[in-house]
Amino acid sequence: MFKYAIIISSDKGAQGLRVDGCIPVIQKCMDESFELIHSVIVMDEVAELQKAALYAVDVLNVDLLIISGGTGFSVRDVTPEAIGPLIDKFTPGISEAIRAYSMTITKKAMLSRAISGIRKQSLIITLPGSPRAVEESLVYILEPLKHGLEIMVGSAKECARKD
Ligand code: MTE
Repeated sequence: MFKYAIIISSDKGAQGLRVDGCIPVIQKCMDESFELIHSVIVMDEVAELQKAALYAVDVLNVDLLIISGGTGFSVRDVTPEAIGPLIDKFTPGISEAIRAYSMTITKKAMLSRAISGIRKQSLIITLPGSPRAVEESLVYILEPLKHGLEIMVGSAKECARKD
């Protein structure tokens, strides 16, 4: 089973001014291969996003970190800028696939600046902030995502055995 965490980037959500709809949608999309171990809503701020992401990856050692929100064009949208510097290896195919599939649903999908990549032994995927976009994205990537995670986690165990 893969351990995963969720970070929601939302000023209104973090201030209690909006009920979050993304966390339940993510949980609904993830199948029995995944166990949610942590979720948090933070302000659209680089420092807050980085602190939350570093906690999930470096302290909790999640296999997968899903971050929703803050990928658009608003002045407050800073998720790619916060997460990019934390990534060791970018996995552009995941974000390209999400955008390509999403554009068959809405051309506005091109407005998402979402990125993804691996830090240490955790895959970080950023998604747009609407529950509908989250569902459309996750349903499309779930099967190849599991294959990628199996390789990432399996190869790390292999390396540890050789040490
Ligand atoms: N992707 C999908 N699959 N479905 C959507 O409805 N909305 C788009 C885009 N990606 C959308 C989508 C819109 S309208 C925006 S502005 C961008 O995601 C950025 O969203 P964010 O600012 O909430 O991160």
